Amino acid sequence: MITKARLKQLAAEHGTPLFVVDHDQLRENFATFRKYLPRVQPYYAVKANSDPAIVRTLYQEGASFDVASMPEFLNVYQNIAHLPQKERQAFIWDKIIYANPIKAIETLQELDKYKPLVTYDNIAELDKIQKYAPNAGVVLRLKVPNTGAMVELSSKFGASPGEAVDLILAAHERGLVCEGLSFHVGSQTTNVENYVQAISLAASVFEEAKERGYTKMNLLDIGGGFPAPYDETVKPFQELAAILNRELDRLFPKDVQIVAEPGRFMVATAATAVSKIIGKAIRDGKLCYYIDDGVYHTFSGVIFDHCHYHFSAFKDGPKAVASVFGPTCDALDVVSMTESLPTNLDIGDLLYSEKIGSYSAASSTWFNGFPPAKVIHIYQKDPLPTKGAKKASKKPAKALTPAAKTKVLTPKAKVAAKPAKAAKKAVAKKPAKKAAAKKRG
Ligand SMILES: Cc1ncc(COP(=O)(O)O)c(C=O)c1O
Repeated sequence: MITKARLKQLAAEHGTPLFVVDHDQLRENFATFRKYLPRVQPYYAVKANSDPAIVRTLYQEGASFDVASMPEFLNVYQNIAHLPQKERQAFIWDKIIYANPIKAIETLQELDKYKPLVTYDNIAELDKIQKYAPNAGVVLRLKVPNTGAMVELSSKFGASPGEAVDLILAAHERGLVCEGLSFHVGSQTTNVENYVQAISLAASVFEEAKERGYTKMNLLDIGGGFPAPYDETVKPFQELAAILNRELDRLFPKDVQIVAEPGRFMVATAATAVSKIIGKAIRDGKLCYYIDDGVYHTFSGVIFDHCHYHFSAFKDGPKAVASVFGPTCDALDVVSMTESLPTNLDIGDLLYSEKIGSYSAASSTWFNGFPPAKVIHIYQKDPLPTKGAKKASKKPAKALTPAAKTKVLTPKAKVAAKPAKAAKKAVAKKPAKKAAAKKRG
């Protein structure tokens, strides 16, 4: 795992601000998830950090993926573009879920040729899916309690349990197959009751659907929300996992496939930001440090994720409560008002913030002319070759830059990705998710 000395050395080599991604930690987080939730297949929520190198490492570890936009889909796709058509299609069906319940018509039109699994939570969306992505399988997103979650999601998405079975039958009436249910208990959920209630709600919807004659559901997607261990108030993952395992086994027979969409849990602890002090002042008697990274950049989670990051210094000294401000000429750029930091730090000294991998660099901007922090990957095993690298003929792998990304789907690849007529027919009957899961072993 990354040491202070290594961080310092990287800052000396690359300058600051830096965003250092530790791929050993990513692999460890993935392994922990699998170890404690053996029945649950993790679909990494790409939105938490869509860096293609992170997606690549998790792909290599055997992750599945939750994508919520076409670029996220293509980000994952570049890892499988070289596979034979049948295998590629199996991967898309079995290991990708398009989990944004609201999709633009253009997105559905583009998605349809990949025959993906997509979520929905209302009739208007179903009508769009029927018309523009009839080859998709569908999963109904349920509204569940998000009590106490750091980021609440239930006011934007989710069908109420009372209307759920009507929506499942509505999919059936439109020639679509509802493969199962999904929910999200809210991001950074430390209230395990949210999961317990959501699993129980989902079980009663499964039951009611059966009673009303619909028996095709064989998938439960328990979403994201798994808390990152930001501080000691977050209980060990295995405690949450033990409760989830118990409830899932109690309420869902083994032939129901259980998947999840962890984002934060996979990536939060896998990155550290290193920033430099560029200014120092005393304001109203309080020490203020100005750094070269801020809330419009790596620390965007302060605004968008309601997350509070902490700073550590490389230098020792007597400590006081200090404010930490970002570099922009904007009053909103306040990273923290309550950091305990040495008072003797000088311009040019470095600070670092750990556990900052999720919802941070992902929403960094160029505001005020300041570029996002440079991203450094350490302990990466088999990166996608960059543009012009010798392995390029091995396809895909040119997609580390936006321009290259668009190149991944060459017309040839697109044609290959189109479902053959026979395959289309098979889709009309819809491949059982269950069967696909079995293949995975
Ligand atoms: C549909 C969906 N799945 C998964 C996630 C990932 O959640 P988390 O990072 O809390 O695990 C999100 C986050 O917003 C989401 O909207």
